[in-house]
Amino acid sequence: MKSMKPPLLLFIFISVSLEALPVSVTGNNVGAYHPTDDITVDCGSNTSSLVGGRNWIGDAADRSDYSPIEKTHSSTTAEASSSSPSIPGAVPYLTARLSRSEFAYTFYVTAGPKFVRLHFFPSDYPNFRRVDSFFSVEAAGYTLLRNFSASLFADYTHSVRFFSKEFCLSVGEDQILNITFTPTPGTSDAYAFVNGIEVVSMPESLYYNTVVDSTEGIKVVGLPSPRTLDTTKALEAVRRLNVGGQFVVPADDTGMYRTWEADEDYVTSSDIGILPVNTTIQLNYSEQVPNYTAPDVVYTVARTMGTDKRINLSYNLTWSVEVETNFYYFVRLHFCEFQIEINDPLDRVFRVFIDLQYADVIKCSRKGVPVYRDFAVALYDSQKKRTNLSVALGALPDGSTLYSDAILNGLEIFKISNPDRNLAGLNPDPTPPASKAAKIAIVAGGTLGCTVFFFLAFFLHRRKNRAKDSTSSDGTSWWGPVSRSTTKSMKTQWSSLPLDLCRYFSLAEIRAATNNFDKVFIIGVGGFGNVYKGYVDGGATPVAIKRLNQGSQQGLHEFRTEIEMLSQLRHLHLVSLIGFCKDAREMILVYDYMARGTLSDHLYNTDNPPLPWKQRLEICIGAAWGLHYLHSSAKHTIIHRDVKTTNILLNEKWVAKVSDFGLSKVGPTSESKTHVSTAVKGTFGYLDPEYYRHQRLTDKSDVYSFGVVLFEVLCARPAVSRMAPMEQISLAEWAQSCCKSGAVEEIVDPHLKGSITPECLNKFCEIAMSCLQDKGANRPSMNDVVWGLNFALQLQVSTELEAMDHVGVSVHDSDDSDHDAASIRGSGSDEASNTSGGWKSSRETATSTRARSNDVCDESTTSYDAGKLP
Ligand SMILES: *[C@@H]1O[C@H](CO)[C@@H](O)[C@H](O)[C@H]1NC(C)=O
Ligand SMILES: *[C@@H]1O[C@H](CO)[C@@H](O)[C@H](O)[C@H]1NC(C)=O
Ligand SMILES: *[C@@H]1O[C@H](CO)[C@@H](O)[C@H](O)[C@H]1NC(C)=O
Ligand SMILES: *[C@@H]1O[C@H](CO)[C@@H](O)[C@H](O)[C@H]1NC(C)=O
Ligand SMILES: *[C@@H]1O[C@H](CO)[C@@H](O)[C@H](O)[C@H]1NC(C)=O
Ligand SMILES: *[C@@H]1O[C@H](CO)[C@@H](O)[C@H](O)[C@H]1NC(C)=O
Ligand SMILES: *[C@@H]1O[C@H](CO)[C@@H](O)[C@H](O)[C@H]1NC(C)=O
Ligand SMILES: *[C@@H]1O[C@H](CO)[C@@H](O)[C@H](O)[C@H]1NC(C)=O
Ligand SMILES: *[C@@H]1O[C@H](CO)[C@@H](O)[C@H](O)[C@H]1NC(C)=O
Repeated sequence: MKSMKPPLLLFIFISVSLEALPVSVTGNNVGAYHPTDDITVDCGSNTSSLVGGRNWIGDAADRSDYSPIEKTHSSTTAEASSSSPSIPGAVPYLTARLSRSEFAYTFYVTAGPKFVRLHFFPSDYPNFRRVDSFFSVEAAGYTLLRNFSASLFADYTHSVRFFSKEFCLSVGEDQILNITFTPTPGTSDAYAFVNGIEVVSMPESLYYNTVVDSTEGIKVVGLPSPRTLDTTKALEAVRRLNVGGQFVVPADDTGMYRTWEADEDYVTSSDIGILPVNTTIQLNYSEQVPNYTAPDVVYTVARTMGTDKRINLSYNLTWSVEVETNFYYFVRLHFCEFQIEINDPLDRVFRVFIDLQYADVIKCSRKGVPVYRDFAVALYDSQKKRTNLSVALGALPDGSTLYSDAILNGLEIFKISNPDRNLAGLNPDPTPPASKAAKIAIVAGGTLGCTVFFFLAFFLHRRKNRAKDSTSSDGTSWWGPVSRSTTKSMKTQWSSLPLDLCRYFSLAEIRAATNNFDKVFIIGVGGFGNVYKGYVDGGATPVAIKRLNQGSQQGLHEFRTEIEMLSQLRHLHLVSLIGFCKDAREMILVYDYMARGTLSDHLYNTDNPPLPWKQRLEICIGAAWGLHYLHSSAKHTIIHRDVKTTNILLNEKWVAKVSDFGLSKVGPTSESKTHVSTAVKGTFGYLDPEYYRHQRLTDKSDVYSFGVVLFEVLCARPAVSRMAPMEQISLAEWAQSCCKSGAVEEIVDPHLKGSITPECLNKFCEIAMSCLQDKGANRPSMNDVVWGLNFALQLQVSTELEAMDHVGVSVHDSDDSDHDAASIRGSGSDEASNTSGGWKSSRETATSTRARSNDVCDESTTSYDAGKLP
């Protein structure tokens, strides 16, 4: 095995030089930060080695400070099997700590945020097969990895078989940082392993922040005001790109040993722009953006749109990074103006889109002043494990800016932990063997992530220090001179320009779209007026057109509020407002057309085939997600006030969208005021009894109504059945009493008989019951509901899979919340308000048979925070 190393190193070196990839540029601010804790452990090694200027301490040495703690003392150390085709040949990947039972490393570190980097080389080790590693890693109360397969991950990401994962987490005062490795229970061969561990301090406010004002903080895409990222969140680094530039190895970071990749493999727009560079610019860091934020080299190269204005305007400069779904992502964009022609803030103004949604407008900074902008975006998808997160920059048209152009210098993307302190996603599906080939070639081509760079760092270090190769090194850089300069700070003025997101339609356009409000086009009727189906854009785009009654109570003020509010609310699970029309007499709102009508249509209208159970669950999850988004809106909680199955619409892909915010109220902001007092509105049968009694509206009133929706979905019975026996009139009461008496199966929709697993049914009823708690304070948040429903879905799917494959999927329910739900009295009042706020579709497209995938979210991946961030 040892004899393999030199040729392999040489091979990589040659490939890499041919491709001219790893240019390490040593800037002036290298080592600008000195971490208080800088610990590197070479797991499974009985010696310590100095690599990259850092002492990797063997955990197997006698009396090592970092020997793991184990209950069973059964872990072993090993070298990677020599039959392994691509042994990396560098510390810490040569040796590993492995065990079929739990082991933990203990680090006595100072309080504050830390990087935790875990290094893995999935390989055959004596008595441990490469494919059998399945384990969880926990640290400081966070789940970093769960049932993680290092081999599946490596194969999927085409890495050179070894890789590292970087996490950021905060260690409290007097807290000991324990990192615990636990093999996945239930499989006898499963084992946990690790090759290397780094724990490195970071500056308090590098990524975490506590300040919120209108200019600082993290802008959550789709929400109006910024949030903070507080230290209750952990992060996992997904990508860190030196845009327009070259690899930056850990040793050339600002002291935190981060790796910065070249961005070219992530540029996905048709045009990739051009790469300006300024090697003489004096970088002027500031208090807000100190010199350790990123290496100088990040700020002195960039990618811009090109030299032709027409081209600049015709595309968005776009980067895409594949990420796991069902998490929030933290996206940091680094900018620095250094081009000679840019002088004034209005010289280069451009828009940022994240995940295809408008995020911000960027004005240029003062010359040579590094700045960054932080965003967060939720990527929710109940069907897919992974998706591409896109960041796009688009030029503003002539007139608003001197150069229709955009610039980006650096890009960092992190996954944000869920409220249950989890960062773990699902393993990727196994990669077909063919695509596993030619790893080294891929390395040379540079497609892979941070993993290579650790290797390169060691490699370069070896070259530098051992001078194995006679062509090597003048000490800092082989690649020629680089600018070096740092001066002191300057305030930067990047500001947001307001952008009108909402389109204006002329009355003539609306008349043309609806054949002058022809009755034939009416698809819904509500207290406010009629809803028409129409086509705009020359017939290309179907829309739903809500024409407010001229005598409608919804006055101009409400009309305007709705437009302002809705145009700020963009979410996959909310019906989008496309535009509006305001005439002397008409007030018209134009929405996305929902081809499959309302959820109610699919529960009660016998023209539609009955929806299968999993699809119902997914629709509930989508709607819950939409409501959660309303409730967690930045400045205000938005309370829907009229949650019901006729207000949950379905598009052609069966994606649930919450609609009709006609009654919505902006809720309280501060904790001191937890409700808004208001005349009772809503729909009988769905009405929160607490709200009804006290006229105190809170977001929990929506949770109550949603509980009724859940039982409707389960039973396909309307919220109120007037002709039914007394005790069955109110679905909420009837369903609760059936649940309590254990007779719930009797009220389940007969179409679903036999298709709901008992575990799933229990969980589902438990969630619905908790939503119907008499006291609002005892009801879950919509976030909890999203979480719980996903868990129910997972229970359904895993039980089905188990039955199918006899696979031992172990699932357990950790949530033992008791439900002492009291009975609900909707006492007296009839039909408190309009009965149909939604609109129906023409039915021609309706069909409920759709191929379902089994890729369902893990319980761990689906929840997100209603609190601070996100
Ligand atoms: C970074 O900034 C700090 C404080 O402003 C300063 O003390 C330090 O010398 C700078 N380091 C480098 C490498 O520029
Ligand atoms: C150190 O480990 C190597 C193999 O990893 C082994 O050959 C050697 O005997 C060990 N030395 C001690 C002192 O345990
Ligand atoms: C961490 O490990 C130490 C030593 O085993 C133990 O005393 C301590 O309770 C652990 N702390 C946590 C938070 O698990
Ligand atoms: C780099 O920036 C400096 C200072 O603003 C400027 O004088 C110089 O012309 C710039 N060089 C290039 C290539 O843009
Ligand atoms: C840029 O992206 C946004 C969001 O996806 C899109 O609305 C806009 O049309 C795009 N611009 C161009 C020129 O393609
Ligand atoms: C992300 O984009 C890449 C290339 O554009 C594509 O190969 C990959 O399949 C995409 N991933 C997902 C999950 O859509
Ligand atoms: C288009 O972008 C290029 C390069 O980034 C910039 O130099 C140029 O001025 C832009 N063109 C116009 C006419 O604005
Ligand atoms: C662990 O992951 C593997 C591969 O993704 C999967 O087949 C298995 O069911 C998972 N086990 C558990 C307990 O989640
Ligand atoms: C750096 O910024 C400060 C504060 O804005 C300013 O006073 C100083 O002149 C700048 N230095 C250079 C070299 O531009």
